[in-house]
Amino acid sequence: MLNVLDHPLITHKLTHMRDKNTGTKDFRENLDEIAGLMAYEICRDLPTKDITIETPMGPCDTKVLSKDVVLIPILRAGIGLVNGITDLIPTAKVGFIGLYRDEETLLPHEYFVKMPSNLPDAVCMILDPMLATGGSAVAAIDMIKKRGATNIKLVCIVGAPEGAKAVMDAHPDVEIYLAAMDEKLNENGYIVPGLGDAGDRIFGTK
Ligand code: PRP
Ligand code: URA
Repeated sequence: MLNVLDHPLITHKLTHMRDKNTGTKDFRENLDEIAGLMAYEICRDLPTKDITIETPMGPCDTKVLSKDVVLIPILRAGIGLVNGITDLIPTAKVGFIGLYRDEETLLPHEYFVKMPSNLPDAVCMILDPMLATGGSAVAAIDMIKKRGATNIKLVCIVGAPEGAKAVMDAHPDVEIYLAAMDEKLNENGYIVPGLGDAGDRIFGTK
């Protein structure tokens, strides 16, 4: 299922990220803020359980979250989404998947994996600002399914139709969340109009 979180605050902040004149500091800050706004929406359906607590006035039947949340940024650029979400869900555990996209073939190559042990019981959110061909996202989902994850959400900022289709074809059970669906990929596999190379813009490389 594809969800494009069309919201004026998200779109406004994304406009700053897209602007080629926006520098590293503002790019990171806007990404942080968008991640938090998206997480608020994405967490609407987090499972809860009933509990009774005592307020100063007496008993209160209420609810708390019933499942752990695991954030799984795809290195490098996915790291840019972590802080905005842990601000809202401070108990979230964080796993890492290192993938880079070969510039010629556009295929993802794995170079690092480190996961917490609670994947099978957790709500797992794979984080990456860009969903281009979808190769990295499909590989990351394959990797966490192999480790037992079943409840998986893919959280990206900008997507291309090709990438969304690739993920929906390979993993129809995964919920996809985007801040924007762009027009297309160019001949180098970059999203147009997009925002350029997310990793380079977050970390100031190039
Ligand atoms: C970028 C981006 C995604 C991937 C998207 O990472 O952050 O992980 O490309 O492309 P795809 O959908 O076609 O797989 P990149 O490989 O450039 O690595 P980086 O984050 O280290 O810059
Ligand atoms: N990776 C990026 O960082 N940007 C794109 O547009 C496509 C892949």
